[in-house]
Amino acid sequence: MARPRVFVSRVIPQPGIELLRRECDVEVNEQDKPLSKKELIARLQGREGLVCLLTDHVDDEVLSVPGLKAVSNVAVGYDNIDAAAATRRGVLVTNTPGVLTETTADFAWTLMLCAARRVVEGDRMTRAGKYRGWGIMMLLGQDVHNKTLGLVGLGRIGQAVAQRAKGFGMRVLYSDVRQAPAEVEQALGARYVLLADLLKESDFVSVHTPLTEKTRHLIGEKEFALMKPTAVLVNTSRGPVVDEKALVAALRSRRIAAAGLDVYENEPELAPGLAGLDNAVLAPHIASASVETRTRMATMAAENMSAALHGRRPPNLVNPQAWKGGVAA
Ligand code: GLV
Repeated sequence: MARPRVFVSRVIPQPGIELLRRECDVEVNEQDKPLSKKELIARLQGREGLVCLLTDHVDDEVLSVPGLKAVSNVAVGYDNIDAAAATRRGVLVTNTPGVLTETTADFAWTLMLCAARRVVEGDRMTRAGKYRGWGIMMLLGQDVHNKTLGLVGLGRIGQAVAQRAKGFGMRVLYSDVRQAPAEVEQALGARYVLLADLLKESDFVSVHTPLTEKTRHLIGEKEFALMKPTAVLVNTSRGPVVDEKALVAALRSRRIAAAGLDVYENEPELAPGLAGLDNAVLAPHIASASVETRTRMATMAAENMSAALHGRRPPNLVNPQAWKGGVAA
C-alpha cells in the first residue's frame, strides 16, 4: 500500500511529526502562522490527510479537496471544522480529548486566582516603579476560599476544575444540558442548578462548554445582570460563548468585578475597550500550553491520523457516522 500523504497546516511539536512519518508521507507548513483558505486548499491537493490547528477554518470548500479522507484537529474543541459537512463527504474528523483536561483546569484556576487577587495589576504597578511601600488599602481583591464556584458545563474540564475547588473549601454549582450521574456529583460535591440560579449565587463563574449554535453568546447582557457585583468570570472554553461587547460593558460599569479570559470572540482581535480594562486578565489562548500537554496533543493527533489513513478506527473520532469500517465512508 502506498504511504498516505498528509499535510500539517502549521508547526506542531516534533514528536507528533515523527510519529506521523512512521506511516505517512508528511509535508509541514514550516511557517508558524495560519494559511489562508486558498493556500490551505492549494497545499492539500493530492493529500489524503490534514492535521490542522484551531486557527484553520476547515469548511465545506476545504473538505471538498478531491481524495481528502481525514482531518485531525490538534485541539479538543473542533468548532473550526464543519463536522456535518465532513460527515456528508465521508471525511473522518478527530480531536484530542482528555490529554489537556488537567492542564486547562490548572489554567482556569490561574485566571481565577489572578483576576480575584489582582496579580496582573500588581505586576504592572510594581514594574512601573509605582510600588512605593506597603499599603493596607492597596489592591484589595476577592477571597477565593470558601466561596461559591459556578461551572457552566461539567464535562471533563469542568469536573477537573471542580476537583481543585475542594482544596479551597468552595461550594460548587454547575449547569449543563444534562445532569451528571449522581456518583460524579457526589465525588465532586457539585450541585446541578439552572444557569440563572448559578449566575445569581456564584462568586466565580467559569465557562466550560463547547462552542455550538446553542452556546454562542450563552453569557451576555442578561446574564451579567444576574451576577453579583463582586463576581469574577473566567473563560477558557471558546470566545463566542461570551458576548465580549457585553462583557466589556459589564466590567467597565463594575456590574461584575473582574474577568480572566483565555479566549476571545474574534481571535486574535479583542473587543474595543477590553485591553484598557484593569479588571480583566487577558491571556493569549494558552490554557493547554504546557510542554507535556502540547506534545501529547500532537502525538495524539498523529495517532488519530495514522489510524484513519490505514483503515484502523481512529481513537478520537468525532463523526463516527463517517466511519464505515474502512478508511472512510
Ligand atoms: C484548545 O483550545 C483546544 O480546544 O484544545
